[in-house]
Amino acid sequence: MSDLITAEVRESVERSVLCWLATSDESGQPNVSPKEVFAVADSQNIVVANIASPQSAKNIRVNQKICLSFVDVFVQKGLKIIGTAAEIKPSVPEYFRWVEPLHAIAGDRYPIHSVFVVRAIAVEPIVAPSYRFYPSETTEKSQVQSALRTYGVRQDKGA
Ligand SMILES: Cc1cc2nc3c(=O)[nH]c(=O)nc-3n(C[C@H](O)[C@H](O)[C@H](O)COP(=O)(O)O)c2cc1C
Repeated sequence: MSDLITAEVRESVERSVLCWLATSDESGQPNVSPKEVFAVADSQNIVVANIASPQSAKNIRVNQKICLSFVDVFVQKGLKIIGTAAEIKPSVPEYFRWVEPLHAIAGDRYPIHSVFVVRAIAVEPIVAPSYRFYPSETTEKSQVQSALRTYGVRQDKGA
């Protein structure tokens, strides 16, 4: 299988503060919830910490098909990872390999019950409509300025 998590995808994932994990249950009922403890594990997999995600875990046990999306809310670009997820629990030897980058993020503050290992099948860009509808006046810089105003955030002088 080709390596879908390229350096560019990794950079986009690492720039995102949150990701959104979409799963569905046996009836097809969708569920989506935010996760902030995640990491690129290798060129095909992203790991997400199950700290407080019982419904996601339940759904992944019955349906491995998932979608994970990341958006840099300031630049207003991101990506969608379409793939499958497996829940890896501490009882299996390979758990330590998968959980390691998550411990580096979460430290001891949060207990990690298990790890969702997301294997990418496809990666698609997410782009705010302004980039397409108003290309002559939309740049990453203008989007950042606009998002800063929308969210009422003041940028550091040095940034
Ligand atoms: C900003 C934010 C970050 C979160 N990060 C995580 C996380 O990394 N892992 C996790 O298991 N839950 C995380 N949560 C909590 C879950 O999103 C929340 O418990 C949710 O209800 C779980 O839903 P689920 O059982 O449908 O997955 C986060 C919540 C918020 C608001």
